[in-house]
Amino acid sequence: MDTILIIDFGSQYTKLIARCVREQNVYCEIVPYSKPISKEVKGIILSGGPSSVLDANAPKAPELPEGVPLLAICYGAQLLASEKGGIIEASSTSEYGRTMLEIKDVSDPLFAGVPSSSEVWMSHSDSISTLPKGFKSIASTERVANAAYRVCGQNIFQFHPEVQHKENGAEIIKNFILDICGCDGTWTGENFAESTITALKKQLGNDKVVMGLSGGVDSTVAATLLQKAIGDNLHCIFVDSGLLRKNEFERVLEQYKGLGFNISGVRAGDKFLADLKGVSDPETKRKIIGRDFVEVFTEEAKKIKGVSWLGQGTIYPDVIESSPVGGASVCIKSHHNVGGLPANLHLKLVEPIRMLFKDEVRKVGVALGLPDEILSRHPFPGPGLAIRLIGEITPEKLSILQEADAIYVEGLREAGLYNKVWQAGAILLPIKSVGVMGDERTYEYTIALRAVNSIDGMTADWARLPYDFLAKISGDIINKVKGVNRVVYDISSKPPSTIEWE
Ligand code: XMP
Repeated sequence: MDTILIIDFGSQYTKLIARCVREQNVYCEIVPYSKPISKEVKGIILSGGPSSVLDANAPKAPELPEGVPLLAICYGAQLLASEKGGIIEASSTSEYGRTMLEIKDVSDPLFAGVPSSSEVWMSHSDSISTLPKGFKSIASTERVANAAYRVCGQNIFQFHPEVQHKENGAEIIKNFILDICGCDGTWTGENFAESTITALKKQLGNDKVVMGLSGGVDSTVAATLLQKAIGDNLHCIFVDSGLLRKNEFERVLEQYKGLGFNISGVRAGDKFLADLKGVSDPETKRKIIGRDFVEVFTEEAKKIKGVSWLGQGTIYPDVIESSPVGGASVCIKSHHNVGGLPANLHLKLVEPIRMLFKDEVRKVGVALGLPDEILSRHPFPGPGLAIRLIGEITPEKLSILQEADAIYVEGLREAGLYNKVWQAGAILLPIKSVGVMGDERTYEYTIALRAVNSIDGMTADWARLPYDFLAKISGDIINKVKGVNRVVYDISSKPPSTIEWE
């Protein structure tokens, strides 16, 4: 498999460079600059970063293999030039925002298909005032003479602009990985599925794997790969925390059975609700739910004899270590629906999709023939409705929330809006307000509706759902769900608000 290595100097855009590479169906990995290069790769990209090469403790690149094409961006480019004897100067030529890039050598393969004069996005304060011997300037901007360079006779390029902001940037990355590095662009969902299943067969042999499923896309795709590799040696566990959407446990369990999974469904709602009794602090709720998941899962897993592996649906954004430059520390986000690794099971980890971005997981799901109903399901948090029911959880309130949420989600589907929003759900507020029904005064709960659009959940904008649709849902909820007399729509974006209310 062709691999491009992206050496990360801490730029906020490093992941986007990886996305650009993956969009060309080429596999790539992001590694921190401090890690030595240990594998064979077709090309290397040095990322930008917040440091200045002029600082005494500026991060250095690992030893680079000879003859491997190299594309250096921003900090990476300045570092390379500086190490070979070029002169880097601070601030006087700093450039932020849009600017025009003039290509001096249009015949350079890096610029194939890129107009000789094109708008780019610059964001840097240092620049290379003098190139080292043997380096040739191939593009400039009004203020930066050496905006791009090439090392004569070698496939070493620098390209200053933060590429991903502009179409031409993607084109330049494409030229680099396909034409200059010679990658064949065959890393598709189909090929990933096929090669992963083969590799899993080899890795696992006759071993048994236990895995917790959440009903979400990630764990379902990971389990399908495992199931295709080892069949019934994959034992799946689906826990009903009592905090799922209305009828979701039965519906998802049926779906999993339909996919041929060897699966046990465990109803543990009573345990979760008992342990959550009297608790209203959101973080405490999360901790109790995480702990209960692990307990229920461990108990169930112990019933399966001879298991040596734990399967997980971890994905790439959870895995990438950001480089500890500029004071930022190593950050690994873990957000697993099954509440992390039950340590006392002493199992080895198998994570078939740990190198995939979220949208790639979906592509692999399509390649595996998974139904659209699973692949397009909105993200749903591990703690479930517990973090959408503000305050203490009681069976009565939970039932009100499930009914209101079901009307809302079903309504979205019927109106053809479900696939137009990234995530949606109802929230039960812990306040009661006065209303009137018939001739009667009412004093009931309020339901808030939330719908957002987002790429990865890190930022989100509230969805502009049609007023007529909101009016219909409001009427349906108030008329059909006993205990609710008011419906409001959440018009906050993230940041500063979060998607979930707790
Ligand atoms: P926030 O509320 O942080 O949510 O803006 C961002 C995304 O993460 C989901 N989320 C969770 N998922 N366990 C999960 O598995 C959690 O504790 C959790 N909290 C938030 C949320 O649904 C949204 O998609």
